[in-house]
Amino acid sequence: MTDKLWGGRFQKPAEQWVDEFGASISFDKELVQEDLQGSMAHVTMLKSQGILPEQDADSILAGLEQLKEKAAAGQLDYSAELEDIHLNLEKHLTDAIGPAGGKLHTGRSRNDQVATDMHLYLKRNVQEITGLLTLFQEAIIGKAEAHIDTLAPGYTHLQRAQPVSFAHHLMAYFWMLERDRQRFEDSLKRIDISPLGAGAMAGTTFPIDRRQTAELLGFSAVYENSIDAVSDRDFIAEFLSGASILMMHLSRFAEEIILWSSEEFGFIELDDAFSTGSSIMPQKKNPDMAELIRGKTGRVYGHLVSLLTTLKGLPLAYNKDMQEDKEGMFDTVTTLKGSIRIFEGMIRTMTVKENRLSQAVQSDYSNATELADYLAAKGLPFREAHDVTGRLVFACIQRGIYLRDLPLSELKEASPLIEEDIYEALDPYNAVARRDSEGGTGFRQVKIQIEEAKKRTAGD
Ligand code: ARG
Repeated sequence: MTDKLWGGRFQKPAEQWVDEFGASISFDKELVQEDLQGSMAHVTMLKSQGILPEQDADSILAGLEQLKEKAAAGQLDYSAELEDIHLNLEKHLTDAIGPAGGKLHTGRSRNDQVATDMHLYLKRNVQEITGLLTLFQEAIIGKAEAHIDTLAPGYTHLQRAQPVSFAHHLMAYFWMLERDRQRFEDSLKRIDISPLGAGAMAGTTFPIDRRQTAELLGFSAVYENSIDAVSDRDFIAEFLSGASILMMHLSRFAEEIILWSSEEFGFIELDDAFSTGSSIMPQKKNPDMAELIRGKTGRVYGHLVSLLTTLKGLPLAYNKDMQEDKEGMFDTVTTLKGSIRIFEGMIRTMTVKENRLSQAVQSDYSNATELADYLAAKGLPFREAHDVTGRLVFACIQRGIYLRDLPLSELKEASPLIEEDIYEALDPYNAVARRDSEGGTGFRQVKIQIEEAKKRTAGD
């Protein structure tokens, strides 16, 4: 027999380096509060079901309460020899209250215990993340509202395409984040389920009440199948998948922030508080935070692929491989919270360089569609209108001028349908205003969109 909590079956202890390889305490100590919470619910249920004598249950509860305070104050020490948070806490409990502590694990296994901890942890953190997303979305709405009338070049293929309201461009990110937020909220349905009471995998012979522990822990439902309860890590894979899509969105936004802050674009300037300088080049102001968020996207994708790969060959039910589910999840939670907070501040404090933007939309050919639409509206088949306009653009490029610089006589030569009012149509402000189709960049549509967005963040 060894002095491990499971030592009865063993004739000799594992060597220290083997223990260290198998241990998860260095990272699963993150679950300390969830683990204590789960144990309290479990022992409360054991007591009310008459499975444990009241006296023992009360002394366990008091012991757990003490541990909770100690843990919050950072006063608990852990050892790799005790493998994980579950065994470390059980040892602390028995040290504190004596042999009665050994009754806590009645009708329970570390398999349903760890799954319970993970569900509790992720539920709390996903709720925090959706809250942070809402704050970020509000910052985007704030910037957008201030720039409904600010014109900006819209791009496809990173080539100037059509002028848009700068607010419209920003709001595109609002809607991406709205889907991310919805994805997380929806995933809560599958996180908010209690595996506790599944035991090692087959349930237990004790007359436990799973509904009671679920209720005490604030879970809305219990797993229907004890094998599934301890084998399921879908809820983590789903979280990592939603996190990967979110990071992909943040990375695209970050890429634009980086481009826009360059001398070449010059559309925005980031606040000093969200920028860094260079150790050698005194003139530099670098968008480090945006770059870092773009960079951190890779590690979140990595955690998703890592977990899916860990799970793919596992027979039912629990396997030690599943201990690998934790670090990636913890790191993703930290990465998401940090990235969202930073992005919120970056957007809220950035300066939009309106002059540069309006200069940009005046000096390009992004109003070419206006000319083609103008001709099409006068009955010319759009294909022909496109061709006429294309030729005019080519002629302008040759001469280093823009469409609005062409005299009416020349325009009329290209098509007799063109009248004096073409100059109005070519004005980028009008080009934007006239795109009044639902969800388009027309100022009226952008305002409607912002109103709808406000309702979403207010939770209507
Ligand atoms: N540290 C383990 C984990 O994180 C806890 C569950 C251990 N269960 C077992 N049967 N060895 O997965």
